[in-house]
Amino acid sequence: MSCDALMPLAQPLLEMCRSMGHWALGIGNWALGIVILLLLLCSFAPLLLCPFAPLPHLPHSPHSPNSMPTNTWNRHHILSLADFTTTEYDTVLQTAASFQEVLSRRTKKVPTLQGQVVANLFFESSTRTRSSFELAAKRLSADTLNFAAASSSMTKGETILDTAKTYLAMGTDIMVVRHREAGVPNAIAAEMDRLGVRVSILNAGDGQHEHPSQALLDLFTICTLINPASPRLELLKGKKIAIVGDILHSRVARSNIWSLIASGAEVHLAAPPTLLPKLFAEYISQESGVGSQELLPHSPTPQLFLHWQLEPALQNADFVMTLRLQKERMTAHLLPSLREYHQLFGITRTKLQFCKPNVKVLHPGPVNRGVEISSELMDDPEFSLIQSQVSSGVAVRMALLYLLGSGKAYS
Ligand code: NCD
Repeated sequence: MSCDALMPLAQPLLEMCRSMGHWALGIGNWALGIVILLLLLCSFAPLLLCPFAPLPHLPHSPHSPNSMPTNTWNRHHILSLADFTTTEYDTVLQTAASFQEVLSRRTKKVPTLQGQVVANLFFESSTRTRSSFELAAKRLSADTLNFAAASSSMTKGETILDTAKTYLAMGTDIMVVRHREAGVPNAIAAEMDRLGVRVSILNAGDGQHEHPSQALLDLFTICTLINPASPRLELLKGKKIAIVGDILHSRVARSNIWSLIASGAEVHLAAPPTLLPKLFAEYISQESGVGSQELLPHSPTPQLFLHWQLEPALQNADFVMTLRLQKERMTAHLLPSLREYHQLFGITRTKLQFCKPNVKVLHPGPVNRGVEISSELMDDPEFSLIQSQVSSGVAVRMALLYLLGSGKAYS
């Protein structure tokens, strides 16, 4: 059969192939278009906050070989560090390191808590803690509610629990609570548990009791200084840390004592006897629920020392934590004068000569310049970690909100 004879037969076949080719090409273009669109969506998702956004490596940071899976987080409220476990400390540190990385990106926002409500219930004034929690919640894409006691219905006689229930009724998932009386966050948490609701309470400082997020950010600041790639509790083992100042009134000191002792660090407290009564050691052993022989839990070598002079506390110290004189909590004249206090317990560059040469100084802020720390030292980047504490605060608080918020999603 000649080719010409085949033509009438082949013609319809060729036509069919041609139209199928167009059709296939059309489908190919569509598929390619969809793939490109998806890729674009994924790259710009953090900007658009769409659900395709890549999550940060949580907490499996490439830098954290000992990462714990997030769904091991079982704590529903964060009220105190007294019973925090090593695993919990490490989970917070590694999660915060991941968020620190997010905060170094051009787009510093992730959709992790999108749709959740974080209410900042600050019954006591605050600058950095409140702003830091607010920014942390916003960086996680949560909706935030801010409450300030002075401009609230509390001035009309509303109780703390009724205020909390009002925020609960608005769909709050996490309440960050600060109050000048110890135990208020615990009381709100107990009421929420009694009501059987899944709202989490985060203690942002209650009276002289505890300030867990501050101690965790202090821990993170120190651990990332020692090993930026993999901050872990054990990095502090054997380090000497002096806590100096108004220990009696300090919730920061109390929370820091738990975390530092848990790390195996040697903790030296220094203050005049009026601000560091002997009873303080008993308080710690009572709070931990164990006898004074085995002073503190979670610590391989429990070591806590009390000093009424500064020098022995500073001798060979790796880190010095200074504390503000909490004049608003002092009910009696506990100090002869601020000038004398500064002379005896104020941290200056000269006094740092007792410490290790590369010693670093921390302060939770706000600072009484020239009282607990000299103005010059406070601003000296060679020694002062104060600014990096503030920056670490956002990453650590993102970690805490994330762990509480995503814990809820897992349960
Ligand atoms: C501390 C606090 O409020 O307990 N500050 C803070 O949260 N950054 C310490 C203080 O007020 O001295």
